[in-house]
Amino acid sequence: MDLRSGYLDSWTMSPAPDPSLFDKVVNLCKRRGFVFPSAEIYGGFRSTYDYGPVGVLLLRNVKEAWWRSMVQLRHDVVGLDAAILSPPAIWEASGHLQNFTDPLVDCRNCRERFRLDKLDDLEECPNCHARGSFTEARQFNLMFKTYAGPLETTSAEVYLRPETAQGMFVNFKNVLETSRKRPPFGIAQIGKSFRNEITPGNFVFRTREFEQMEMEYFVPPDEAAKWYDYWCYERLQWYVDLGIPADQLRLRAHDEEELSHYSTATSDVEFLFPWGWDELEGVANRTDYDLTQHAKASGESLDYFDQALGERYVPYVIEPAAGATRTAMAFLMAAYDEEEVTREGQGQGETRTILRFHHRIAPYKVAVLPLSKKAELQAPANKVLELLQPHFMCDYDETQAIGRRYRRQDELGTPYCVTIDFETLDDHAVTVRDRDSMAQDRVPIDALLDHLVPKLA
Ligand code: GAP
Repeated sequence: MDLRSGYLDSWTMSPAPDPSLFDKVVNLCKRRGFVFPSAEIYGGFRSTYDYGPVGVLLLRNVKEAWWRSMVQLRHDVVGLDAAILSPPAIWEASGHLQNFTDPLVDCRNCRERFRLDKLDDLEECPNCHARGSFTEARQFNLMFKTYAGPLETTSAEVYLRPETAQGMFVNFKNVLETSRKRPPFGIAQIGKSFRNEITPGNFVFRTREFEQMEMEYFVPPDEAAKWYDYWCYERLQWYVDLGIPADQLRLRAHDEEELSHYSTATSDVEFLFPWGWDELEGVANRTDYDLTQHAKASGESLDYFDQALGERYVPYVIEPAAGATRTAMAFLMAAYDEEEVTREGQGQGETRTILRFHHRIAPYKVAVLPLSKKAELQAPANKVLELLQPHFMCDYDETQAIGRRYRRQDELGTPYCVTIDFETLDDHAVTVRDRDSMAQDRVPIDALLDHLVPKLA
């Protein structure tokens, strides 16, 4: 679906959010090895999560799909991987030391802390229900500070980056001089960011350590409005192309008081989470704010001389800024489905849980399943696995009844299962089972790659 034609209509017909989906997905994540609470054997470490064997594949696929669309398939965007530790000078110039704050209130009764702007009722504490118990709001800076080197002195203070963006701005000159790119062009980066969130929560939606996928697109100032519009739609389309239904996505423009200190216009790509619409990604017009600030603070000129026009200007920046971990969660929510089916091969009714991931997002693309653990099936199964592994991320599973193994792969979102059975020994063919339709095709092993590659490309 091309969102430029008629996407507005699809929002008005959006389904109601399903609050029960949240627990179902969180439970599935733990049960199947997507996401584990961090430091679980020590009782957990609030709001940090570890990505398990399947979750790490999902997250890599999200990042890979973003990189493919933002860097690989374009000629005007290059990549960067900047340091996480950074000197206070960067954050002084960017305005984060001054402005990257949330309003914090304490409940005098139960001592819990809350973000003022996230409270539903400014009079009643959501934890202990005391009324009128909040302190005056004070601004709390979200950046994590630590020390570089052995001395814990002011001069050794450094920050963990709260956004990847500043790495792109402080390297603007380096990239311009080495990449032969000219505005309009972009610098893209994927990496960890850290924010000392007052109220982390909703699983991996808001955490203190998370991954971002950001791109700074440097444009002539008079083209900023055009590129802002372009990137809003481009980014919305990306989620649809990867299987999120258009009626679960919308673009929402920030009003004046919501804008960040550096932005003149921002629109959020929002997803219909189980608790309602919430932000997946922000697309902002950051103007020439960051380059001007860093030029002033560093003494380096960060402008661009356009030889064709004979003009010197500081580029404006359009920034699509997404969260990789938050996006992975949205893909999980959107892909989750349950359907009543007859147990394959047994005629009994049951509920089938499926993650209907787009094949690019699915952790495993193919599962290789010998029908039984018998030695004579292991050799051909291993040969099939070796045939497929250079092309696709494969799972291999040889225990349990085949029906249960299919259900497990459905819950992992694996698009195809390849079953090696005793007939394989005679006909040198395998059964390819489709996750969504459960249809089964008999395919000669010699033709297996030709069968799967076009479906999974
Ligand atoms: N450079 C601009 C910037 O960082 P942002 O809206 O603060 O903008 C961009 O962050 C994206 O990063 C958000 O849309 C969200 O997907 C993700 N993000 C931000 N804070 C997060 C957190 N605490 N936990 C998980 N993801 C977060």
